[in-house]
Amino acid sequence: MLKLSPSILAADFTRLGESCAAVLDAGADMLHVDVMDGAFVPNISLGVPVLAALSARLPAFYDVHLMIRRPLEYIKPFCGAGASLLTFHLEAESPVEQTIRAIRDAGCRAGLSIKPATPPEAVFPYLDALDLVLVMSVEPGFGGQKFMPAAAGKIAAIRAEAERRGLSPDIEVDGGINPETAPLCVRAGANVLVAGSAVFRAPSPADAIAALRRACGA
Ligand code: DX5
Ligand code: ZN
Repeated sequence: MLKLSPSILAADFTRLGESCAAVLDAGADMLHVDVMDGAFVPNISLGVPVLAALSARLPAFYDVHLMIRRPLEYIKPFCGAGASLLTFHLEAESPVEQTIRAIRDAGCRAGLSIKPATPPEAVFPYLDALDLVLVMSVEPGFGGQKFMPAAAGKIAAIRAEAERRGLSPDIEVDGGINPETAPLCVRAGANVLVAGSAVFRAPSPADAIAALRRACGA
């Protein structure tokens, strides 16, 4: 089943609650929350208080993408603020196994993400312990960038290795996803699509979500 996770980074922050409610009404399966610390990536977005306010007002599956240098130190606050799934970066400074364990202990699902320069094999040692692998198809830090097609090959390699081991993790792709690029990722084995600009900046989020599903034959 294909799942769509619109990134709230592209939302109108002056009307965040209403914009998110509209996107969920329009058929989004979850909300992607991009957390940036100005250290792991050269941008600062939002954090725990914004997630807490949003999740208190709007029940949804919160797909939280931590682009922060020391994720292990922030697992409890983000899970406490309503995260359903916490995804952190392999390239960050926290020990990977310990961070996955801390996420589970806090009652969240665990995801691991890789940047464009990181090979797919880097996630293989952790595959058995993960609910989701997030393959970045842009350099993390900003919305509205161009899709990097090499992401499709990385998705295919991770899906093949997961199947070889009898695993079926979610594989999510993030960055530059639109009706042209989404099918390449789904064909490669992705089943969760993040889309910021393509959904939140569309005149009709419902039409944009329908167009993404249609393009992927879902
Ligand atoms: C980039 C973020 C993405 C971004 C996607 O660092 O992780 O989630 O908001 O935005 P679009 O879909 O506009 O590329
Ligand atoms: Zn993201």
